[in-house]
Amino acid sequence: MKFFVDTADVAAIKELTELGMVDGVTTNPSLILKSGRDIQEVTKEICDLVDGPVSAEVVALEADRMIEEGRKLARIADNIAIKVPLTWDGLKACKTLAGEGRMVNVTLCFSANQALLAAKAGATFISPFIGRLDDINLDGMQLIADIRQVYDNYGFETQILAASIRTVNHALQSAQIGADVMTAPPDVIKKMAAHPLTDKGLEAFLKDWEKTGQKIV
Ligand code: E4P
Repeated sequence: MKFFVDTADVAAIKELTELGMVDGVTTNPSLILKSGRDIQEVTKEICDLVDGPVSAEVVALEADRMIEEGRKLARIADNIAIKVPLTWDGLKACKTLAGEGRMVNVTLCFSANQALLAAKAGATFISPFIGRLDDINLDGMQLIADIRQVYDNYGFETQILAASIRTVNHALQSAQIGADVMTAPPDVIKKMAAHPLTDKGLEAFLKDWEKTGQKIV
């Protein structure tokens, strides 16, 4: 499973990159706002840091304007994936931009039918939002499973990018279902390493080690 980091925080990306945990990055307008940085500048910095796809999102609503914005964003670096919303215009923009050989990430996906359309429009990635479905008492994980089934039935190559991941269980279940990629905030990725029995075990080992009076030299 590929790991994308869902942030525009360069320091956090750098830390995870050094551990080999970063196969790509996703950003969106809210994450750019949170970073307090200029979109072009911060996106370029991220693209220089990461080898894999870096998603940058258009903000226009009409297809023609989305295509224009997408082409501008793609000029930032070769590893830009243009993020378009799953609207009818977004699908039109996806078809055109994908036809130009660009990576396209179709975002704000909340149904398997939407994902089917994105695959037919040539999306490189489809981003189903797990957490936001859970927020309204729907089953975000079932959506990942439904899309996996539909894509596998017909051999669509669009990669399922499990997004809006809020917990370590979201990450595990996405992997179990077979999402191709997950994008998670840095703190969720770091929490995946945590287990209370690891901490407890380590504490006990260190106490016993102290009693031996030895040193590793
Ligand atoms: C990533 O591509 C999405 O924009 C992001 O995962 C959304 O997450 P949120 O629902 O926590 O804002």
